[in-house]
Amino acid sequence: MFSRELIGPLATTISGRSWVLDPFAGTGRIHAIAEAAGVPRSTGIELEPEWANTDTFPGPDRTQVVGDALVVVPTFTPGTFDAVLTSPAYGNRMADKHEAKDPCKSCGGSGVAGASDCRVCKGRGVSRRNTYRHRLGRVLSANNGGGMQWGPEYRDLHRAIWAVCVSVLAPGGVFVVNCSNHIRLGAVVDVCDWHRRCLEELGLGIDDVVNVETRRQRHGANGHLRVAGEQIIVATKPAP
Ligand SMILES: C[S@@+](CC[C@H](N)C(=O)[O-])C[C@H]1O[C@@H](n2cnc3c(N)ncnc32)[C@H](O)[C@@H]1O
Repeated sequence: MFSRELIGPLATTISGRSWVLDPFAGTGRIHAIAEAAGVPRSTGIELEPEWANTDTFPGPDRTQVVGDALVVVPTFTPGTFDAVLTSPAYGNRMADKHEAKDPCKSCGGSGVAGASDCRVCKGRGVSRRNTYRHRLGRVLSANNGGGMQWGPEYRDLHRAIWAVCVSVLAPGGVFVVNCSNHIRLGAVVDVCDWHRRCLEELGLGIDDVVNVETRRQRHGANGHLRVAGEQIIVATKPAP
């Protein structure tokens, strides 16, 4: 989800706009950001029905559409939106797909703690993984960027989705990407810089790149090396 610390700064970037699109909407925090910014219309697109949370957003002004952004975004007329604001997956270890089989460290694999289920593994007995696949509880749908490690597949999907989003953005519209770098094999993978350059290659002008300190997960192989925070890239589609 968008970090709570980011809701204010992100709202500022779309203030004064009329209709915002989030192609990676998850549980739909884009609608709370739009409310905070005074943006009257917001559309989120989310591939996984369990996360799209559609019942919470009734009515024509705040909608969640279930589907692949690559397919759903082009169904809108070019120039429909005057803002795109989104947070893609970061291509980090959250994309791991394997099933955890090692026993939960808290309950030793029994799944119980005292008279109730172990709170850490929720009674499953296996260790917890902070991955999209584990959070969803099943294999991710095809084309889910959350299941892609940093690499050509990740870049191809995101480049293609940014391109369709640019085509439904009106000239003068703002395009905001919230992302984060990560550490792989002891070195920083500059995912944010790739997204910034990709937006430039699609013809957008970069207005601002803001670094924001957030609480990042500290467990995992590189817990002692975590990158400090997240970035907000603010770009504009030029007038023809
Ligand atoms: C980093 S999360 C965004 C979370 C969101 N900002 C929130 O506040 O809940 C990325 C989301 O994009 C979704 N996603 C990944 N690939 C997608 C695709 N091709 N089309 C639509 N949604 C996709 C994932 O299922 C995941 O929920």
